[in-house]
Amino acid sequence: MNGNGLNAEGTILRRSPRDRPARSALPPGPGMPSTLQAVGWLNRPMPFMERCRARYGDTFTLDMRHFGRWVFLCDPDDVKRVFTADTATVGVDIANPLLGPILGSRSVMLLDEPEHLRRRKLLLPYFRGRHLQHGGEASVEAARRAVAEWPQDRPFELWPRMQAITQDVILRSVFGDGDPALRRRIDTLLNALTEWAGHPHRSTVLTAFGPRWVARSRAFRAAMAPLEQAVLAEVRRRRGGDDPGEGIISMLAHVQDDDGSPLDDQTLRDELVTLLTDGPTSASLAWMFERVLRHPEALDRLTAEVEAGGEDHYARAVVNETLRLCAPVPVVVRRLLRPMRLGGHALPAGTTVAPCIYLIHRRPDVYPDPERFRPERFLDQAPGTYTWIPFGGGVRRCLAADFAGREMREVMRTVIATTELRAVDPKSEGAIRSAISFGPGARSLVTAHPRRTPLTLDPSSDPVPVL
Ligand code: HEM
Repeated sequence: MNGNGLNAEGTILRRSPRDRPARSALPPGPGMPSTLQAVGWLNRPMPFMERCRARYGDTFTLDMRHFGRWVFLCDPDDVKRVFTADTATVGVDIANPLLGPILGSRSVMLLDEPEHLRRRKLLLPYFRGRHLQHGGEASVEAARRAVAEWPQDRPFELWPRMQAITQDVILRSVFGDGDPALRRRIDTLLNALTEWAGHPHRSTVLTAFGPRWVARSRAFRAAMAPLEQAVLAEVRRRRGGDDPGEGIISMLAHVQDDDGSPLDDQTLRDELVTLLTDGPTSASLAWMFERVLRHPEALDRLTAEVEAGGEDHYARAVVNETLRLCAPVPVVVRRLLRPMRLGGHALPAGTTVAPCIYLIHRRPDVYPDPERFRPERFLDQAPGTYTWIPFGGGVRRCLAADFAGREMREVMRTVIATTELRAVDPKSEGAIRSAISFGPGARSLVTAHPRRTPLTLDPSSDPVPVL
């Protein structure tokens, strides 16, 4: 339990190293001490994974202090078997130790079945249909407002600017459009949490003390407690008034459990914090500009498509290729609840398996010349269900995948129509870890220049104002 009495540790957060299968029962992997493997994973995960794949093949084990033993799966057939296994065979596990304390054990992301599917059904409609449309419109507006404030006379980092946009969008989905002062307040609290989570020393401290330290950290509580208090106060306000209000928070405030009781405070806190801390979309947007600005032919094609209005085929291909090459979440994990044969190994119950997004997206048999950014690969070919997995897969696939894809396209088209961006350094930026996702190393450093001829986003709409 933390100081607030919220967020009691659930099964995932309580598991001890003794629950793990013996190292000898698992596929091969590096023999170095688990502390060094954890350092490799936290500090240089991409080269570490690539070296292991080269040495041990498509199935290998990393044994990492505080994280546990993970069996990496890089063969799409194995990934398919894990994602399509029934819920009695494959269950939830946690890849990022920061997620446990931040999201909380009652978050949809960390719930076991059958509760997980019940909660998922409740939330899914808020990322589809008219809500998807609303998210798209909110993305255009948020991008327009943001671009108008970007500096004109000096380089700046796009990643935090993208975060401001995605935060604006999700705040509207969660709280509705009605109360700007409330959204501003929560926005400030979320920024404090992001600052805590993104601190450069976070990885070092995690390696040394493990995830349990997070929940006990005074700085973490100082950033998290005001956010928890603010969202719960808003739930109470909406429950007390005559008007049920709009947004996901109103649904959660009024929904009843199977026995007719309202959701408890911990559930409400965990679900709302989960939705509000959307890290991957801003990292993906930052990557998209990082890549496109270094590929003038792609930028020209995109600009021509925006100018022509209507179709967004190429924009979709750019989003797909960005999420392939620069997936902000490199791995998802599951726990085997029953023994399973994967990669030619009989894995015991209790094994953590890790479908490896990063390595699967780089398979040369699926993606020729895999390191090259080439949106054209997705023009004639739809992404494969088990070879393009930036949103994970199966019953736990990201429930906002369509929402995030739409958001990325709308923001990209709005920015391109409004301003001309240039990369400060023509060299690629490489990946760095933030709290929850991986983004471009220089945080997508650019300069912005007024567009000489205003472009329209749609032939029937007004031209987008020039900066
Ligand atoms: C480009 C942006 C995004 C990426 C790359 C992404 C990626 C992911 C991944 C990899 C997972 C885990 C899937 C698995 O374990 O198989 C996930 C789950 C999830 N994501 Fe996203 N995500 C994105 C945007 C969002 C947004 C905008 C939201 C909502 C605010 C969101 C909410 C969730 C939730 C609630 C889950 C848990 C689903 C479940 O367990 O049923 N994500 N996401």
